[in-house]
Amino acid sequence: MISDRVRQMAPSQTLELNSKIAQLRKEGKSIIALNSGEPDFNTPQPIIEAAYQAMLEGKTKYTQTPGIPELREAIARKLSDENKIDYSIDEILVSTGAKYALTNTFLVLCNPGDEVIIPTPCWVSYVEMVKLAGALPVLVPVCEDNHLDLKAIDKAISSKTKVILINSPNNPTGAVYSQDSLMAVAELAVRHELYIVTDEVYEKLIYGTTPHVSMASFSPGIKERTVTINAFSKAYAMTGWRLGYAAGPKQVIKGISAIQGHTTSNATSFAQWAAIAALESCGAYVEEMRQAFEKRRDYLYGRVSSLPGIRCPYPDGAFYLFPDVSELFGRRRGDRVIHDAPALADYLLDEAGVALVPGNAFEAPQAIRFTYSNSMEKLNEAMDRIERAVGKLF
Ligand SMILES: Cc1ncc(COP(=O)(O)O)c(C=O)c1O
Repeated sequence: MISDRVRQMAPSQTLELNSKIAQLRKEGKSIIALNSGEPDFNTPQPIIEAAYQAMLEGKTKYTQTPGIPELREAIARKLSDENKIDYSIDEILVSTGAKYALTNTFLVLCNPGDEVIIPTPCWVSYVEMVKLAGALPVLVPVCEDNHLDLKAIDKAISSKTKVILINSPNNPTGAVYSQDSLMAVAELAVRHELYIVTDEVYEKLIYGTTPHVSMASFSPGIKERTVTINAFSKAYAMTGWRLGYAAGPKQVIKGISAIQGHTTSNATSFAQWAAIAALESCGAYVEEMRQAFEKRRDYLYGRVSSLPGIRCPYPDGAFYLFPDVSELFGRRRGDRVIHDAPALADYLLDEAGVALVPGNAFEAPQAIRFTYSNSMEKLNEAMDRIERAVGKLF
């Protein structure tokens, strides 16, 4: 009855888990959610006030499809000052979250049968977005240290390749790719005449010494074939506001705008006005949240890496740990066998009341994802519970 397109689509495992958690809590269970990919902080007050003010001023109507010019101008200034990329406002489109900008970017760039190279582990939605566009995801595992395997990417390029997708800082690994490796990918894109889609939604959440660099800032000839995706969701704790953007070649932005015009019309009007306040007056809030995340990263990394049977790479960005848990596979507690990552996640949910996402959701079945966007108290309690539950497997 329903289309093949939708029947082939896997539901978002991270969002599905939220429904399960809600049900368990309704039954009175104490669940600590370390599964969610969003900041636990509330949106900074100046942003909320700007939205309220916009509503009072009647800025509650449809806007231009690619977004209000004032916000696109503010984004252009941000991209120029922080990311060293010069865009005019008709090379920028504001959308309903990074998700919608990404989906439409693939719809604009790909014909059925085209291939999109995706380094894995990767965020849950890329594969489904690419398939929705009728294109083929070509999954290329990263190296052991979670950094890009340039030889493997080169080898994966075929006559059908249209796009290389890059996500740094990365969800789920937390890796921040070096400028050299990003430049090498850019060179491949130029040599093979490919597009780069670069998802930079975690750019503000970096804790190590590797800085964030935007691929479109590389010269020569990279900007013309790059679509930069970003959002207000993670940096400004604005996940529920659904506000992201794409910046890229005029024709691509025009294509995204055409789809948006027929589907959502525009991102929410007053959220767009509020986003100007985010860009122009919330740097200190972002830094405060970044520092809190860094402390939590250090704490959780220490606790997780001391668990038996778990090997945890050290992440430099985003708010995730993505340890390899494959040494626990085959262990048992009574009749219960931990045969894979989903079984371990189920066990920890039942035994410890802690929700984690199995690596299968990220094309990495040997791992499990912890999110540290939660209070220190909750992280501490979650780790005490996990330690006891994992101890019972030995
Ligand atoms: C890598 C990555 N890109 C994009 C998104 C979606 O962002 P938004 O909430 O702005 O749609 C997420 C959210 O989890 C993400 O992790």
